[in-house]
Amino acid sequence: MTEATSLVDALTPEMSRRDSMALLIRAFEAAGIADAASDARLLLCAAADIDHADLIRDPEAPLDEFARELLAAYGQRRFAREPVTRILGTRGFWSLDIEVAPDVLDPRPDSETIVDAALKILGERQNDPLRIADLGVGSGAILCALLDIFQNASGLGVDVSPTACALATRNLRTCGMMTRGRVENGMWESLEGGHFDLVVSNPPYIASNDIPGLDPEVRNFDPGLALDGGADGLDAYRSLGATLPRVLAPGGIAIVELGQGQAAAVGLIFREAGLLILGVQNDLAGVERVLIARKMPNSEGKSPPATLSSVSPLGAGQKSD
Ligand SMILES: C[S@@+](CC[C@H](N)C(=O)[O-])C[C@H]1O[C@@H](n2cnc3c(N)ncnc32)[C@H](O)[C@@H]1O
Repeated sequence: MTEATSLVDALTPEMSRRDSMALLIRAFEAAGIADAASDARLLLCAAADIDHADLIRDPEAPLDEFARELLAAYGQRRFAREPVTRILGTRGFWSLDIEVAPDVLDPRPDSETIVDAALKILGERQNDPLRIADLGVGSGAILCALLDIFQNASGLGVDVSPTACALATRNLRTCGMMTRGRVENGMWESLEGGHFDLVVSNPPYIASNDIPGLDPEVRNFDPGLALDGGADGLDAYRSLGATLPRVLAPGGIAIVELGQGQAAAVGLIFREAGLLILGVQNDLAGVERVLIARKMPNSEGKSPPATLSSVSPLGAGQKSD
C-alpha cells in the first residue's frame, strides 16, 4: 500500500495521459487490485473529463493540475478498495445510467438477468399497462430498466432502507419515470394489497458466515442489509414466499435473483408457498441466476407437490439441474 500510494504521489506536472495511466496501473497491480488496467483507464478518463476515444487520439496530452489531483484522490480511494462505480457515482445498467451512492447496493450486471427474463416472459405484453413491483428496490436500477422496457407499465419500489428509497426516487426522476414509478419506505412483508402482474426482487442472499470472506469491495462498501440472507442465505426467500402469493395478481409473474446454488432450495420454498415454478434463467457466466414463478390463475390453493425436476429450462441453453 505504501509503495502504491507513493506511486500516485509520483504523478507529476507535464506527465502525459499515457504515462499517468501506466503509473496508476502499476500502482493498482502492486496493491493486488484485479482489473488494474480497466480501472486506471476509467478513473483517468473521468479525472481528465475525456472519453476513451480522446485518450486513444491524444495519449501524449498532459494532465492539468485539477485532473492530476482528482486522479490522485481517485487512486487513493481505489487503494482503499472502493469500487470504481462508487468512486465515479454512476453505473451503466441495462441501457440506463444509474446513480450509485453510499449505503445502497451497487447494482450488478448479474441483476440484468431479471430484466432479460421479464422481457422474455412478458415481451408479448410489452405495451400493456402492467403493474410492476420491485421488492427491495435499492438504487432502483431494476425498476427503472423495467419501466424503460414496458413503456405503459406503472411501478412500485419498496425498501426498508430510507437511503435506498431516496436514491431510487432520484434514479426514477433522472430516468424520466416519475409519472409511472414511485417508491415506498417499508418492509415488503407489510405491503398491502397488490395485484401486481410482475413482482421482481433481488433479495439479500449471502449466508451470514460467508460475509467476512467477501471481497473488500463488497464487504466494506455494500450495506449488510442488502447482503445478509441469514444463517443459510435463504431467510429473505422464505419471507418472499409468504409475501408473493398475497401481492401477485392471479396469473402474475415473480422473478427473483438467486445466489449461486440456491435454485433448488428457493424453488421448493416457492412451491410450498403455492407458486408454480416456470423455470430458471442463467446469467452470462452460466450460473443459475433467476427463478421465475407464477401465481396460479383463479386459484387460492397450492400447486402440486414440489419436485426438483419441476425447475425447468426456460429456453435453449438454459439448464436447471
Ligand atoms: C440485494 S439488495 C438489491 C437492491 C436492488 N434491487 C439491486 O438489485 O441493485 C436488497 C435490498 O432489499 C432491501 N431489503 C432487505 N430486506 C427487506 C425487506 N424485508 N423489506 C424491504 N426491503 C428489504 C435492502 O435494504 C436492499 O436495498
